[in-house]
Amino acid sequence: MVTGGKRLSGRTKVQGSKNAALPILAATLLCADECVIHNCPRLSDVEASIRILRYLGCKAKREGNTLMIDTRDMSRYDIPSELMHRMRSSIIFLGAVLARCRKARISSPGGCELGPRPIDLHLSSLREMGIEISEEHGILECEAHDGLKAANIALSFPSVGATENILLAASVCDGTTILTNAAREPEIVDLADFLISCGAKIDGAGEGTIIIEGVEKLHGATHAIIPDRIVAATLMSAAAVTGSDITLEGVCQSHLGAVIPVFLQCGCEIESFRGDLSISAPARLKAPKLIRTTPYPGFPTDAQAPLMSVAAVADGITVFIENMFASRYKHVTELNRLGANIKVEGKVAVVDGVRRLLSAQVCACDLRGAAALTVAALCAQGESEIKGLSYLERGYEDFELVLGALGADIKKI
Ligand code: UD1
Repeated sequence: MVTGGKRLSGRTKVQGSKNAALPILAATLLCADECVIHNCPRLSDVEASIRILRYLGCKAKREGNTLMIDTRDMSRYDIPSELMHRMRSSIIFLGAVLARCRKARISSPGGCELGPRPIDLHLSSLREMGIEISEEHGILECEAHDGLKAANIALSFPSVGATENILLAASVCDGTTILTNAAREPEIVDLADFLISCGAKIDGAGEGTIIIEGVEKLHGATHAIIPDRIVAATLMSAAAVTGSDITLEGVCQSHLGAVIPVFLQCGCEIESFRGDLSISAPARLKAPKLIRTTPYPGFPTDAQAPLMSVAAVADGITVFIENMFASRYKHVTELNRLGANIKVEGKVAVVDGVRRLLSAQVCACDLRGAAALTVAALCAQGESEIKGLSYLERGYEDFELVLGALGADIKKI
């Protein structure tokens, strides 16, 4: 329940990145050792990964935002469909289980709320590394009969998940793998940094070409997860729509390279110093005009929905072009219920900013859509009810408490 119209103020620390934490948790399998992961957010997607690790025979213990994981006693190489289907990104366990066991049996992850999410790039790359893969009744049977082999892999699209699976498999294979057109997201760099601290030899993470010299085995390590750039963008959106001044702590400004200019175009002032990012929003925002989602370092698809709530109340027209996923405008119908004026045609959404949104009952249908509705409700006149919070809890840690501490009138029932 959100009563809109309250200005936000104060400071808040940005949580650890979900999309960095998930592959790193899978990567602990490669170590066959103890790992300590700091700044690991308490999210249902992280819990889903922990459940998979436990099913595989590993131990996991949480103390606050630190996870202690012991993968020495891993005893299985299969992941049942009920665990796989909790989270589409569990496909990342494929590379990790293969790297550890040289075989894996997992259910094919299928589609998700963002539309069909093929894994052809993951599978073709792993095949190039000597893994035989067959699929029957939705189960993928994978085995490297002659061991994992290094390869020269050129991705036809810089897929984040495929890049992560290749990094995992290539870290402990025979020879040197050269990966071209790799994803360059900060979460890839964080995974590589974790693997390097476990003894892997990886050069070029964060660039288009990554060179991975396979080593025989890895050891445990301690690692702190990077701050979540999408949560940062969401909190900046919350400040923008409420005309507020807030300071985010623990932000990596360089990860927001394509996001900060959008807020500047909206008329916000932004100051950044040693991990603190302060945003100060005007009473009426200006439309940011054009937002095109592209792979990093372009504008992130995950920030498209929260920024659409910003555009919804900005003066002027903003055109969004969603290039990454087929069904990523499901929040539009619900934003329009709150009084926004948004039209969608294929991958284009045209937002004609209104002066004010009005409260309504709305229902989230995916993670970032849930965040967008929360942002919109913060500036909608009256009390809004947002359903589908399980989506929000996949990626935002105690979001209602974070916003409440900044002065929002929000409660979870
Ligand atoms: C990751 C993020 C997700 C983010 C996305 C894009 C995690 C856990 N999730 O998802 O939040 O929105 O990056 O930044 O980190 N594709 C194929 N074949 C493949 C793989 C991908 O066609 O084998 C397509 C997808 O359908 C999609 C596009 O490539 O249209 C991008 O996907 P990808 O970069 O792989 O995203 P994910 O790793 O699934």
